[in-house]
Amino acid sequence: MAPTPKPQTSGQPLDVQRIRADFPILRQRVHGDRPLVYLDNAATSQKPQAVIDALTTYYTEYNANVHRALHYLGERATAGYEAVRGIIARFIGAPEDGVVIFTRGTTESINLVARTWGPDQVQAGDTIIATGMEHHSNLVPWQMLCQERGAKLKLVPVNDDGTLDLTAYTEYLTDRTRLVAVTHVSNVLGTVNPVREMAQRAHAVGARVLVDAAQSVPYMPVNVADLEADFFVFSGHKCGGPTGAGVCWARRELAEAMPPFMGGGEMIERVHDDHATWAEVPYKFEAGTPSIADVIALGAALEYLEGIGMEAIHAYEQKLTAYAIGALARLPGVRVFGKAPERGGAVSFDVAGLHPHDLSQYVDQQGIAIRAGHLCAQPLMRRLGVPAVSRASLAYYNTTGEIDALVAAIGKAQHFFGHG
Ligand code: ALA
Repeated sequence: MAPTPKPQTSGQPLDVQRIRADFPILRQRVHGDRPLVYLDNAATSQKPQAVIDALTTYYTEYNANVHRALHYLGERATAGYEAVRGIIARFIGAPEDGVVIFTRGTTESINLVARTWGPDQVQAGDTIIATGMEHHSNLVPWQMLCQERGAKLKLVPVNDDGTLDLTAYTEYLTDRTRLVAVTHVSNVLGTVNPVREMAQRAHAVGARVLVDAAQSVPYMPVNVADLEADFFVFSGHKCGGPTGAGVCWARRELAEAMPPFMGGGEMIERVHDDHATWAEVPYKFEAGTPSIADVIALGAALEYLEGIGMEAIHAYEQKLTAYAIGALARLPGVRVFGKAPERGGAVSFDVAGLHPHDLSQYVDQQGIAIRAGHLCAQPLMRRLGVPAVSRASLAYYNTTGEIDALVAAIGKAQHFFGHG
């Protein structure tokens, strides 16, 4: 089994210095002797030693293929891999009538639903509703499905404060709505959307609900049962796990009715010369050798977060986010996007007269990693009236001192580029 170290007792206030000591990457200095300030957590998170150890232990002690090797290593690998389904179900508060399907990440999970649930369920004249703040992963697969099926895709407009226009949403819902696909937390605006309320309204017209939880699972306690989601997807690498392992949780009755995603080994029950029958869920959706080590290390990542406590992480990040927004907004010429009353740690902003790419390259020279660009959300950029933004996205291992360093670096950049 994978090791399951716990860094501190759940329920305690968060001890950020102790937590930082668990992240070897944060100790390094870059660009000469600058301390690394990593503020690009919405793109991917850093990995605690427990996750690195889980990967190393797997490869040094029990590397073997799962589900087929009848030997010591294979049994150990299979047990470690399968145990992670239970860790995930517990972590996301999944109802019992569901299945945890392993994918490579959020994008693959959404494509899995679009390609397997979609063609049977979406007919010409039907509607899928997404929102104007989706990142491309929760938009393009639905555009493709709607084009193939002759269905219509409607996007819930985004209000000026970064919340969704729920009046428009309710108007869009009809008995032809098949699916509502909504992000739980926006990767650009930070907005925490009222997913439960939206799901209840969708279910009232018979629609299904897919929740893109890529940004919420690392940020706040989540509970699939409370959210009333039919599909719930997220990426492991944004919550401390490795790249290459993600999750598609689906209601069992839906998953059982869905055809396979990809064909190959592991997903079959019996293969005849000219056809095959399928394994039971979730294996029907997991063709080929999975990312065994990455799944096992994802389990270690979620146990690490549980050890700190998601309530403590959420409370800390809320404070840190408020601090960052206040500090950035006080800078002359800086405009922060997203003023939703409930928001996560993605803080997007622009600096008058400075292109986000110039700014991010400048602050990078000071050792500070932020993201600049359209943030995989081009429709939202058009709504905001900008081609690109800069974004600092926070995690529980960031500090107010790091935000001060960013603010100072932006001030220097304004001076350097002649806008200060
Ligand atoms: N959606 C990811 C981000 O916001 C890639 O950086």
